[in-house]
Amino acid sequence: MSGQVSASPPEGYVSRTARRIHKARDIVGYSLLRAAARLFGFKPRHRAKDRRLLDEEILPRLAENDRYARVLFVGCDWYTEHVSDLFESRGREYATLEIDPARARHGARRHIVGSLADLERSFPAGSLDLIVCNGVIGWGLNEPVQIERSIEACARALSEGGVLLLGWDDVPEKLPIPIEEIHALEALRPTTPAGLGEPVIKTHTYTNHTFGFFVKSGAQTVARTSRSGRGSDR
Ligand SMILES: C[S@@+](CC[C@H](N)C(=O)[O-])C[C@H]1O[C@@H](n2cnc3c(N)ncnc32)[C@H](O)[C@@H]1O
Repeated sequence: MSGQVSASPPEGYVSRTARRIHKARDIVGYSLLRAAARLFGFKPRHRAKDRRLLDEEILPRLAENDRYARVLFVGCDWYTEHVSDLFESRGREYATLEIDPARARHGARRHIVGSLADLERSFPAGSLDLIVCNGVIGWGLNEPVQIERSIEACARALSEGGVLLLGWDDVPEKLPIPIEEIHALEALRPTTPAGLGEPVIKTHTYTNHTFGFFVKSGAQTVARTSRSGRGSDR
């Protein structure tokens, strides 16, 4: 019938209940994996599609780029421990920051217990070339005011040409505000780091996990009136 609105969900849509079931299955599966790792002495890896993309493609490309010499990784857990080797083996200055003191054991040799919003206490303006902030928004960093303060702090801490890699679950229950509505991101602009195809990478997982790259570029920011422009720091 013409004019009728379709009630069927869009292609690729995963219901909230299905996402919860996926999550519960992951929790049980990874608990068993970690128990086995402790028993047999190996380092477990998270094998989710978005995690593999991050670990096997995005982070290696960033680590091999000499432009990113001073690196901060935000938010630590058992599956992020191996990231320090990736950067430190290439001589990068690598640090981690995590708000939960109990997770310091997963951090790097230089580890800061604290909130991303207070980044300036540890990293003065312009002192970082790369900030990786994956799965933090919506996973503890939930208040819009804190999100703004945190992204502002990242923009301040980045050097000219420095990049912020944001990763977020693009589902309502994990996105306190839409990423494009974070005002502090206006100080940065979308970019495509060398070897990575797009400024925004959607992984089409059950949480629609998405990665976005944002570069600090003073000249561009002053000249810019909207955030529609795309750049590249190849
Ligand atoms: C889901 S884990 C993500 C870990 C890791 N970044 C990754 O790539 O998956 C979220 C982590 O961010 C930490 N976190 C939440 N809010 C934070 C904040 N404001 N500052 C620093 N860490 C924060 C949490 O304690 C938690 O360990």
